[in-house]
Amino acid sequence: MNLPNSKDARLRTKNEVEYIYDNPVSSNKFLNKKYYLRTYGCQMNEHDSEQIEGILSSFGMQSTEVMEEADVIILNTCAIRENAHEKVFGYLGRIKHLKKDRPEVIVCLGGCMSQEVGVVEEVLKRHSYINIVFGTHNINELGSMLIEASKGKQDIEVYSKEGDVIENVNFKRASKISAWVNIIFGCDKFCTYCIVPYTRGKERSRKMDEILSECKKLKEEGYQEITLLGQNVNAYGHDFEDGTEFSTLLEEVAKIGIPRIRFVTSHPWNFTDKMIDVIAKYPNIMPYVHLPLQSGSNNILKLMGRKYTKEEYLELYNKMKERIPNVAITTDIIVGFPNETEEDFENTLDVVRKCEFDGGFTFIYSPREGTPAAKMKDSVTLKEKEERLKRLNTLMNEYSLKHNKEYINKTVKVLISGVNEKDDTKTMGYTETMKLVNVKGSKSSIGKIVDVKITDAKSFSLDGEEI
Ligand code: SAH
Ligand code: SF4
Ligand code: F3S
Repeated sequence: MNLPNSKDARLRTKNEVEYIYDNPVSSNKFLNKKYYLRTYGCQMNEHDSEQIEGILSSFGMQSTEVMEEADVIILNTCAIRENAHEKVFGYLGRIKHLKKDRPEVIVCLGGCMSQEVGVVEEVLKRHSYINIVFGTHNINELGSMLIEASKGKQDIEVYSKEGDVIENVNFKRASKISAWVNIIFGCDKFCTYCIVPYTRGKERSRKMDEILSECKKLKEEGYQEITLLGQNVNAYGHDFEDGTEFSTLLEEVAKIGIPRIRFVTSHPWNFTDKMIDVIAKYPNIMPYVHLPLQSGSNNILKLMGRKYTKEEYLELYNKMKERIPNVAITTDIIVGFPNETEEDFENTLDVVRKCEFDGGFTFIYSPREGTPAAKMKDSVTLKEKEERLKRLNTLMNEYSLKHNKEYINKTVKVLISGVNEKDDTKTMGYTETMKLVNVKGSKSSIGKIVDVKITDAKSFSLDGEEI
């Protein structure tokens, strides 16, 4: 048994990152058995689930949508806010019930929650029916842990390593059209409210050659779009100390010639002019940037440890708008950080009014155990926070609707990703600027980039017809 330790995670040294080539285990014990995988959280977790599915498929297992008929149940969890925790613990209630009838089912808890000491302690105390707990640093060990668990052993292995980079991973990708590619793992920013640096470990970049050969392979397989992934993509290469930076990588990826290249997430702190230039230069780098603001108040930004001011954010924002033709910018905002005053909040609204974001995610601050902000005394009531969130959302939605309406009667390029989730006579897809479009058009266009005339606009989507 190996438990996580958030103190170890914080005391990072400058040790070399180890690049490890995955050495998958094989077993026929699970042949034709069924697995049920539930994924919470961000794109990084979604992509980790593709690694988990790669391991399970290599054992000859099939996936099922029905938890009750599964032989192996895996929850890939998120720890970003308290409600993410609650969802998982709520779901565990269902699993506990199932385990009473079918004790042979193997239950696995993975992802960011497993990296929290408190969660693992609670598992040991109250959810001891869970067979496997694995973390974000050892997904590659899931195969051997399953083999052990099938012998009836409980296996809890969660490391608080600074983090290795595992290469040669066999992903079972969810889409044949769009693919995720990890470029940097972990986070060293330690924003005071955020759990990610503890659950995902030290910031460490994949080698450029590995990333480029993965992208080339995806192009050969016919992928239309790749999204470069990292908690902070513009920190890419900082750990190499040879001058490589995100713009270097982005440019090389663009040259491979995949029709659409995206990246998430960008921190406003080290977004260089070179990055803006590269995005502007290559037509296959999509004109879309997710640029989290978090707060518009300099007091709060300082307490958050974000390392930029309201004015610097606005300067960067305006520079992008000027230099990248037709760019769409979305954001993340937290309301109700400890002791946020009405004036602080007004500053956030002020930035939203100035930027007129294309869209964004807004959250009420949620204290995370072990982070510095969780120790701050807070004078703001939940009711006030909820009211602020409502005011913010009203304003944000106004601007997304305004931008979406500008598309009406225009013809735009849409990558058709599949059948429409709400109306199966239609298809759906995304514009270059990452707007969701419900499309009247042929199903034979799935996987292709087509011209679509926009006929109507709502706050969160567009309607259009393929021409
Ligand atoms: N690496 C990304 C963020 C990943 S987490 C970045 O720095 O932009 C996604 C979003 O969750 C964050 O942008 C933030 O707005 C929100 N978030 C993170 N911790 C939170 C907390 N403790 N309470 C509320 N929202 C939080
Ligand atoms: Fe969290 Fe900040 Fe790192 Fe983003 S940059 S993952 S908000 S610590
Ligand atoms: Fe959640 Fe972990 Fe992503 S905490 S948001 S799944 S990095």
